[in-house]
Amino acid sequence: MTNIAILVSGSGSNLQALIDANLSGHIVGVISNKPDAYALERAKKSDIQTRVIEHKQYPNREAFDDVMNQQLLDWNIDLVVLAGFMRILSAKFVSAWHGKILNIHPSLLPHYKGMHTHQRVLNTGDVYHGCTVHYVTAELDAGQALAQGVLNVKHCDDVRSLAQRVHQLEHMIYPQVVEWICSGKIKHLDDGTVLYQHKAMTQPVQFCQL
Ligand code: GRF
Repeated sequence: MTNIAILVSGSGSNLQALIDANLSGHIVGVISNKPDAYALERAKKSDIQTRVIEHKQYPNREAFDDVMNQQLLDWNIDLVVLAGFMRILSAKFVSAWHGKILNIHPSLLPHYKGMHTHQRVLNTGDVYHGCTVHYVTAELDAGQALAQGVLNVKHCDDVRSLAQRVHQLEHMIYPQVVEWICSGKIKHLDDGTVLYQHKAMTQPVQFCQL
């Protein structure tokens, strides 16, 4: 069974979707860098152990990541799932967990890496928007994409409505991808190749809500 840790900083609606999905893997624990993250309450309600590691209490990124790394090792974790975790991970941490860290980003990567994706989509006047589940590498929002949820931007959309609709897509695709990894449908090989149903994956699986 795949032992999963979920890293959070905020509301944790993606954490909730992962809990509700009844994954075949086991959510062993939730780590937050913020003591007041609502995600911690969600974990506790589902009897999932939590650990707060406040980044502010460590002199630098590496020191914070070392503590997190040790906690993941203590929990015997196979898969690290970032769900609204608002810290950039050190290169050392990412390399130690190479091929074992997932993130979800609210844009159709490689477009709109970084912050304020909904506003940037509206500013550009894009017709499509969505979210991407990808492996985490040392470069921000640049690891291999595994799945994308795509929606049509409507004339009446604003940042709030886009954020809400993208969130709905996230709650659908993130548990799906995590389950594919738990069940072995997606495999990350040591040489970096990602297999989907035993074949090299060349593009993300798309879920369209147009
Ligand atoms: C999501 O929009 C996700 O794409 C981004 O952070 C947000 C987390 O939301 N990485 P929540 O805490 O899961 O509700």
